[in-house]
Amino acid sequence: MYRITLIIAFILAMTACSKKQDNQVNISSPGEQIKLTFYLDENGQPGYFANYKEKMLIDSSALGLVLNGENSLDRGFHLTNSATNSFDETWEQPWGEERFIRNHYNELRVSLTKDPDDKMDIVFRVYDNGIGFRYEFPAQETLQKFEIMDELTEFRMSDDHNAWWIPAYGGNRYEYNFTKTPISEFDRVHTPLTIEATNGLYLAIHEAALTDYSSMVIKNAGDHVLKCDLVPWSTTNPVKSYVTTPFQTPWRTIQVGETPGDLITNYLILNLNEPNKLGDVSWVKPGKYVGVWWQMFINRGTWSQGPKHAANTKNVKKYIDFAAKHGFSGVLVEGWNYGWDGNWMGGGTKFNFTKPYPDYDVEELSRYAKEKGVYLIGHHETGADTENYEEQLDSAFKFLHDHGMKVVKTGYVENGDTLPNGCYHHGQYFARHFQNVIDMGAKYKTMIIAHEPIKATGKRRTYPNMVSREGARGQEYNAFGNNPPNHLTIIPFTRSLAGPFDYTPGVFDLKLKSVENNQVWSTLTRELALYVVIYAPMEMACDLPENYEGNPAFKFIEDVPTDWETTRVLNGEIGEYVTIARQQRGTDNWFIGTITNEKKRDISFTFNFLTPGKTYKATIYRNSDDADYLENPTGYKIEEMEVTSDSSIDLTLVRGGGAAIAVYPVE
Ligand code: NOJ
Repeated sequence: MYRITLIIAFILAMTACSKKQDNQVNISSPGEQIKLTFYLDENGQPGYFANYKEKMLIDSSALGLVLNGENSLDRGFHLTNSATNSFDETWEQPWGEERFIRNHYNELRVSLTKDPDDKMDIVFRVYDNGIGFRYEFPAQETLQKFEIMDELTEFRMSDDHNAWWIPAYGGNRYEYNFTKTPISEFDRVHTPLTIEATNGLYLAIHEAALTDYSSMVIKNAGDHVLKCDLVPWSTTNPVKSYVTTPFQTPWRTIQVGETPGDLITNYLILNLNEPNKLGDVSWVKPGKYVGVWWQMFINRGTWSQGPKHAANTKNVKKYIDFAAKHGFSGVLVEGWNYGWDGNWMGGGTKFNFTKPYPDYDVEELSRYAKEKGVYLIGHHETGADTENYEEQLDSAFKFLHDHGMKVVKTGYVENGDTLPNGCYHHGQYFARHFQNVIDMGAKYKTMIIAHEPIKATGKRRTYPNMVSREGARGQEYNAFGNNPPNHLTIIPFTRSLAGPFDYTPGVFDLKLKSVENNQVWSTLTRELALYVVIYAPMEMACDLPENYEGNPAFKFIEDVPTDWETTRVLNGEIGEYVTIARQQRGTDNWFIGTITNEKKRDISFTFNFLTPGKTYKATIYRNSDDADYLENPTGYKIEEMEVTSDSSIDLTLVRGGGAAIAVYPVE
């Protein structure tokens, strides 16, 4: 049940302009960790800079917008007012990686005017672990409807810091391996952009609450300046965003940590989103799922009709039986509907979202699933033809609802960075489309897992049915190529900062019997660890039932929950290794995942997160001594030990290795 706990009331302290000098206003975070200064320069252009403790976080950086027409919002401003307030509240997530989240910030609102009478506010929220700011346009006479051609927001770094990045406008959306270079060596990259500053700080630049605006890409503008680069509307229309006042842009966010792990437990993005707008969301339930999916990637089935069509009634019943036997809540079925025959990508065919293929008896299967206590997960591959999808949106979701499907996986596969209608996959048009789908999901009480999505920006707080997204190279890349072993040691510090990631872990047949000359670059106990390391409220066990049955390691997948009380990062270096412990919501059970890249290494940690004075039993799923991601990926052993909050453990992780631990109190 969703419940907001207001621990400390909203303290509103409107103050008169607190300018220290003309056109400059300062604000600090509640614990004074971050100090931010807003200023107008001699041309009346807004800007800001910020420090974290004694270290420079953001050097003097420009703000403003270029509009289509004459009255650009870039310079010539007057500061007409500034006001501050403080806010401190602890709220409860209906589901999540952390149950209670403190939202504690000081806010500065600067009100600017420009002749003739254009009004723009810039609002900064300064936290002890980061900054959010956005542009707001009150209802006004002169600025009512306008077109944004460029956003001038800068994040000027103090040095040529290192960053982990994936390219923007590369034609493959967010599905790239990460590269680590100094910021001077990239061109335009996606966010979250994670940076290791030469002064020792870790930063992540991203955005929050992207709803009716274009996505922010980061452009290297030279001289250590990272500049906002908004995705255009389409290939033929350079407008970045259409705005009608009153209007607020998404928040621009800068998260800060003293260790890489600090970024993982930084909930600033969620805090900057509006509280739940859906009311009672007890129907949004985390869970685990299996599905008719991986078999298509390993040449054991097809989405399209034919002799290997996988979404047939008999095969789906096998998955339903397996799900029911092992406690999974859902069964995903891909390739169930008309549209897959032919080259469906990029709008090549018209998908029909209410017409099953003849060998898929949806009535019988939804009845059978219900009888067994599980539900079918619908699949809406759109081929990125958003217009075809929107025409059917209501009937498509009604169909899910009528067949007891509580979750839908959506997909937008195209050939490049643009939709069939020419709009950019990450532009304002797609942001609007995405919101339409979330709203329709809410209408029919459906949870959404989106593939080829627009990036997550914390909207799950406002719309808790928006449970998970892909938006990175997922497991599927291991079937038609490889994710290098360091990929998943980078993801928790980069992509996952945006929100839950539907990576779909759990391959046990890592040598891929049915795929020639390829195997998954992982080890079996690393696949287990991913259920903890990669957060998602709906986690898939992607392999075939026959690869799980009878394997003792499967018990970890059965046991691991997907809804957490709290999350602790025990150690980690970006791209090297990471260890995360999470407490199952409402219990004293803990689950720990630790993974390494292609290097064998020893990992140690203490169980100091456990309740002192209590004894627990830990079941450890670890690589066997001769395991190796290339030579022997499935070698593992299971060990048990008693632990207390004073215990520690030493684990050797082999190349591409990992370990998973389940910890239960001893009664
Ligand atoms: C790409 C998605 O990531 C994958 O999960 C899905 O199976 C295919 N598209 C087909 O929709």
